[in-house]
Amino acid sequence: MTEFGLIDDDGAESPGDEFEEIEIEDTEADRIARRRDREFSEFRKRIKNTEQFKVEASVFDDATFAALYKLVQDGHIDAFGAPISTGKEANVYTALAGDHEVAVKVYRINASDFKDMRGYLDGDPRFEGIGSDKKKVVTAWVRKEFANLKRAQQAGVRVPNPIAVERNVLVMEYIATDERGRAKRLNEVHIENPETAFEVLREYMRRLHAAGLVHGDLSEYNVVFHEGELVVIDLGQAVTVLSPNAEDFLRRDCENVANFFAGQGVEVTADELYDYVTGTGQHGDGSSAASKD
Ligand SMILES: Nc1ncnc2c1ncn2[C@@H]1O[C@H](COP(=O)(O)OP(=O)(O)O)[C@@H](O)[C@H]1O
Ligand SMILES: [Mg+2]
Repeated sequence: MTEFGLIDDDGAESPGDEFEEIEIEDTEADRIARRRDREFSEFRKRIKNTEQFKVEASVFDDATFAALYKLVQDGHIDAFGAPISTGKEANVYTALAGDHEVAVKVYRINASDFKDMRGYLDGDPRFEGIGSDKKKVVTAWVRKEFANLKRAQQAGVRVPNPIAVERNVLVMEYIATDERGRAKRLNEVHIENPETAFEVLREYMRRLHAAGLVHGDLSEYNVVFHEGELVVIDLGQAVTVLSPNAEDFLRRDCENVANFFAGQGVEVTADELYDYVTGTGQHGDGSSAASKD
């Protein structure tokens, strides 16, 4: 049964502008790649020959393999599983960690779309002065995705639990279906009760905004359905509400979400959703509204 159970927001932090600055120095992975000791070289050789990495072997640089190596050494990954997705900038794989599966998102440093990333970092107080070095931008991006997931989680938004980050690789909770396959996106499932699903997602958007973040790429493609819950994914591009682009991104998010649910028969407009999310409308608990006539 589809309940879309809204998770509790116990312990949600109050909104603030205490965003921690994210420091981008040389990572341990870079040092490992430079050192190329025998153990790392063997790991690299082994992993390059596995089925799931064959295609990427040419795309992933040594430091990416070093990042994977570091994550294995640190115990966050025991064995690599199947590829789940090849996106514009990142590949997502499953991996085994102890007795459970995790999702491993590997950003390709040389992905051609990286220039777009710069725009999302501009005006974000957490990334002042990181410059335009490709590697630094991608590294910052991945740290940002990790920090965004943490912040969303603290705000009471159901997202994959972020586990570890190393250079251009992010390890997080794997959201699987009961059949152990990849969890379906909202656009891929039949929604029995779209009204409830909408109310839950709307509340998550409000909580995220109250915690100072705007998703920036929210749509039915970045919300997955998992064990009766909606899970918001792909927070790499999320910006703080202080970002110069925050307003535009939020408007676009509201349009995407409103359009999708309107198509499912829910009576909602992008403007109404925007008002709800930002608390500027006459919604909320329904008491305050200064209605005209
Ligand atoms: N934590 C996760 N658990 C399960 N599947 C995931 C997870 N993260 C991503 N995926 C799958 O990989 C796809 C791409 O991931 P996403 O973070 O949206 O990256 P992209 O930037 O390429 O869109 C998602 O649509 C989803 O199917
Ligand atoms: Mg996505």
